[in-house]
Amino acid sequence: MSLPASDRTKQADGRTTMELGDVLPLTAEVRGKRLYIGGVDMVELAREQGTALWVFDEADLRNRMETYLHAFRSRYERSDVIYASKAFLNKAVLSLVREEGLCLDVSGGGELACARAAGFPMDRVFVHGNNKTPQELTEAISAGVGRIVVDSRIELARVSEIAGRLGVTQDIYLRITPGVEADTHEYVRTGCEDSKFGFTMLEDFAYTCIKDALEAPHVRLKGLHCHIGSQIFALHSFREAAEVMIEFMARIRDGYGYLIEELDLGGGLGIAYTADDKPSSIDEFAEVTTQAVKDCCARYDLPLPRLLVEPGRSLVANAGVTLYTVGILKTLPNIRKYVAVDGGMSDNIRTALYHANCEPVIANKADEPRTEIVTLCGKHCESGDAVVIDMPLQHPDLGDIVCVFATGAYNATMASNYNGQPRPGIVFVKDGQSRLVTRRETYDDLMARDLEG
Ligand code: LLP
Repeated sequence: MSLPASDRTKQADGRTTMELGDVLPLTAEVRGKRLYIGGVDMVELAREQGTALWVFDEADLRNRMETYLHAFRSRYERSDVIYASKAFLNKAVLSLVREEGLCLDVSGGGELACARAAGFPMDRVFVHGNNKTPQELTEAISAGVGRIVVDSRIELARVSEIAGRLGVTQDIYLRITPGVEADTHEYVRTGCEDSKFGFTMLEDFAYTCIKDALEAPHVRLKGLHCHIGSQIFALHSFREAAEVMIEFMARIRDGYGYLIEELDLGGGLGIAYTADDKPSSIDEFAEVTTQAVKDCCARYDLPLPRLLVEPGRSLVANAGVTLYTVGILKTLPNIRKYVAVDGGMSDNIRTALYHANCEPVIANKADEPRTEIVTLCGKHCESGDAVVIDMPLQHPDLGDIVCVFATGAYNATMASNYNGQPRPGIVFVKDGQSRLVTRRETYDDLMARDLEG
């Protein structure tokens, strides 16, 4: 794997930190030369905690959670916001999610175990996954989770059987693939027909399986779910998905005489990774989805269902940044300028995996214009190991602290120990205070599971 060829036409944008707009966490500011988040000096924090380091702006996290809830509840009374914990998961963020009154999406036994350890109310937990093991299903049902989102006919039988054995009736949703092609990277597109997820509507398969769900003895079919993909900018895809789902609910009412009470439209709202990205706002997303549901229910004379959405990225991505120290500089004339940092694909696989890109600034030169085009490469043994490709940066020197924005979603949760790299610590900042909420891994952690040698 190697990097895409350098974009020779790219010009440094001359922007200073505060000109990066939506990319920045809520409380980002520049005091003197330095970048502050949550009233905390990022250069000092990097010195205290070491780098690489993930830093989250607590005010930003809370603000987005409140914005989501208000955006939906002010338009649609019976609505809930489910945080998709795959985007970013530790006990500290779970406390915020609980305090702010959101529900929680867990995908599999590990995420469920974290939720239980954090004391998250189990009746607000939604369990996802296309291949939940019998063990995971048993754990979820005996923990008393609110809903299991059943992904297949095989799983439907399994859930009913396990619930029966445990002597309970489990509330379930069926995950439907609505056949909507969302406008996003194909790796994170999930609602189209060729997908490993959910019940296809082709050849009436999903419709036929509704009968199975209604007849299964130990489950109660409460709702339907769909998720059309991730990092979506075009809101019309959500409207189309809502229309398909509600038409399907009307068919179920007419054909089976059964009223589906709840509709979960999944996550997927895109965010600004670069200053040129222009995502839709949470309010616009809420407006389009709630209006689509109301319009469609009126068209089919259906009562309004409880409405749920399941965002991950748009709750946490911009709240999080990564701090690195510049260790090596390498300029290849007419080719590229490499700035090597003390992390890389182990803490940010998104660049290599999706050709994603992020905005960097030098935290100790945050007031200066970004006059150079650089590639921030990591310290791993791969040519394709980069965090930022051909983006503007202030003139870099050895020992500078680089802050890369919008790394709060899917960075920590997809991190690895490649090349024996301990995963960074996680710090929450707020009102001038910082608290280490997840410690940095140690070398001992790397060997903690080895039983021999
Ligand atoms: N619900 C379900 C069932 C999902 O599968 C996902 C994400 C979400 C909700 C949350 O979607 P969001 O609001 O975050 O877009 N690793 C990729 C993203 C994969 C998304 C997987 N599913 C990335 O780094 O871009």
